[in-house]
Amino acid sequence: MDSILIQGGVALQGKVRIQGSKNASLPILAATLLVRESSFIRNCPRIRDVYSMISLLRSLGCSVNWQENGVYVDSSAVTKGEIGSEAVTGMRSSLCLLGALIGRCGQVVMEYPGGCVIGERPIDMHLSALRQMGVEFCEKEGRLQAAAKKLRGAHIVLPFPSVGATENVLLTAVKAEGDTVLEGAALEPEITALCRYLQCCGASIEGVGTDCLTIRGGSALYGADFEVPADRIVAGTYLFSCIGTGGNILLENAPWEEMTAVLETAEQMGGRLCTSREGLYVQAAARPLAVPCIRTQPYPGFPTDLQSVALAVAAVGDGESMIRETIFENRFRIAEDLRRMGADLKEQGADTMLVSGVEALKGAEVEARELRGGAALVTAGLMARGETKVTGCRYIFRGYENICRDFRELGARVTSA
Ligand code: UD1
Repeated sequence: MDSILIQGGVALQGKVRIQGSKNASLPILAATLLVRESSFIRNCPRIRDVYSMISLLRSLGCSVNWQENGVYVDSSAVTKGEIGSEAVTGMRSSLCLLGALIGRCGQVVMEYPGGCVIGERPIDMHLSALRQMGVEFCEKEGRLQAAAKKLRGAHIVLPFPSVGATENVLLTAVKAEGDTVLEGAALEPEITALCRYLQCCGASIEGVGTDCLTIRGGSALYGADFEVPADRIVAGTYLFSCIGTGGNILLENAPWEEMTAVLETAEQMGGRLCTSREGLYVQAAARPLAVPCIRTQPYPGFPTDLQSVALAVAAVGDGESMIRETIFENRFRIAEDLRRMGADLKEQGADTMLVSGVEALKGAEVEARELRGGAALVTAGLMARGETKVTGCRYIFRGYENICRDFRELGARVTSA
């Protein structure tokens, strides 16, 4: 079941419920390590990255039990911070275990984390921030070792609002002695979700939702019942798919308050949007309009995780669009596959793609090589005339619970094979 078959050219119609957020649930699952009790994480998405995180938690001694509407994690039995599983090298987000285990055990031994193959993704900001809180690092036989005799609060300034580094500082600082002030923190809603979970557990954090967080270390932490917010990237994927195919859909539960830049782009592409307590209504024109420039930026700017799907839609836009990627290098990896489907794409330097919209894409066999690019190929298949086969779909299942079922609910002809 590693491929998806799509008979393209159907305008999306109907409604679909948006799953819980991958990027919020992973650091929250890591944060359950800081609590010596059981937490219930509602609306936790059933995706491969969550399963990998849960197997890491189990290997550390956590007891984890799925229920219909969420997952219980009891970390009371965890004693040592050594993780050796292969899953670490396959999942960048396992990096948040670094902060969580330092906070819990004072030491960590782990593989260097992996993730999507989109650029080099160094971890210098994580290491430098944690060093300022008293953590010492060394590399032994290719593994990362970290230890702290005593964690102390610090005044940390991030040179760039890294999502992962902000999470690691939060996870370490709640267990440090004294206050930590973090300037230049990332503003992504997933950071706010992590802060809210920690606050529910008893942590004292000020400035939530701003780029300056003050964390009072050392509060006793208790288990909590917490609901993971809906996934803005999944909602954005389905929104752009509707803009690309035409049609009329309701994205139930979509977190549209967190999607301002995405909604603006969708409107520029000709979408008519309506937000309500139910979610996000989308009505698309027959053919999307071109957009002068889509530029990825840290939140609240246009998210890099939706750049590939916006690129796929711009490929059939009426006119010329320009897409500029400023967060990750190597994020135009789907260009070759889109060209095979008939897209007219010209690279202008490493970070810019000039897109001359064609009237229609044509079905082809293409290969997913990373999570968001893979989802964008499914979107391209939905828009294309004829049949598209997307292989390598294990990458897509890292972040989408059931992309075939969701698109079928929206009337698309999609099957997994
Ligand atoms: C998180 C998200 C990912 C999203 C990204 C940007 C999760 C699990 N993943 O990834 O989906 O695309 O935010 O919104 O939440 N960098 C450094 N040094 C560091 C850390 C980062 O140079 O120490 C660079 C990265 O290479 C990248 C940029 O900073 O160019 C942004 O990275 P960061 O915000 O840390 O992304 P992640 O936390 O890895």
